[in-house]
Amino acid sequence: MTADPATAAAQVPRHLAIIMDGNGRWAQRRRRPRAIGHRAGARAVNLSIDFCLQRGIGALTLFAFSSENWGRPEEEVGALMKLFLNALEREVDELDRRGVRVRFIGERELFAEAIRERMALAEAQTSANTRLQLNIAASYGGRQDIAAAARALAVEVAAGRLRPEDIDEAAVGARVALADLPPPDLFIRTGGDQRVSNFLLWQLAYTELWFTETLWPDVDAGVLQQAPDDYAGRERRFGLTSAQIGAEASA
Ligand code: FPP
Repeated sequence: MTADPATAAAQVPRHLAIIMDGNGRWAQRRRRPRAIGHRAGARAVNLSIDFCLQRGIGALTLFAFSSENWGRPEEEVGALMKLFLNALEREVDELDRRGVRVRFIGERELFAEAIRERMALAEAQTSANTRLQLNIAASYGGRQDIAAAARALAVEVAAGRLRPEDIDEAAVGARVALADLPPPDLFIRTGGDQRVSNFLLWQLAYTELWFTETLWPDVDAGVLQQAPDDYAGRERRFGLTSAQIGAEASA
């Protein structure tokens, strides 16, 4: 879906994307194992879902585990897998009750079967919900997402269903993750670093970026609200001029 300049910043973001960074440091500052930070981070996940439900934000995409995170120490990866499985076992009924549709993006075949099964169940159970679309990026990488879209296009060309000259931005955009949603209006990264870290590279092309020093487990609604407040004061131009945006908005 293309971004519409007229629906600019004065509105609530339709789609929020978050890099939940700082769990490890949160734990280390307390001289606790990093896994404790991830557990505290899971509480902030629930808080961010509540935040979106209360503010009428229709889609939330959370970066839970990157393609690169498999390279972390075995103990930490194991603790994260346990946490994901527990969350899938415990939270899905409540998410369903609250009208949340859950979806996973990323290379799910890399997860253990128990987790894959729970992912599929969560998606099936919540598939009719429309209040909030919750996308969990797990074993996800933006480059891998674009590469998969390129591979899908190549397969269609090889099968004679598509001509190379028909490959345009819309054709690629239709084959990356979350193609059925508007791209994120607003991106939040907690934990102080200011980078995108291979998250939704295609989808973030015109997303407004917002960073906070707050570590993810310390995030509360007050911190989160700063981002849409800041977003509301921005002018989104999508490559056009300010005058053009003004004219479109008043047309
Ligand atoms: C980044 O912090 C966070 C992660 C790699 C994991 C995110 C996982 C959660 C918030 C837990 C639960 C999630 C769900 C969806 C149930 P970091 O470890 O890189 O922190 P650091 O930069 O301080 O080391």
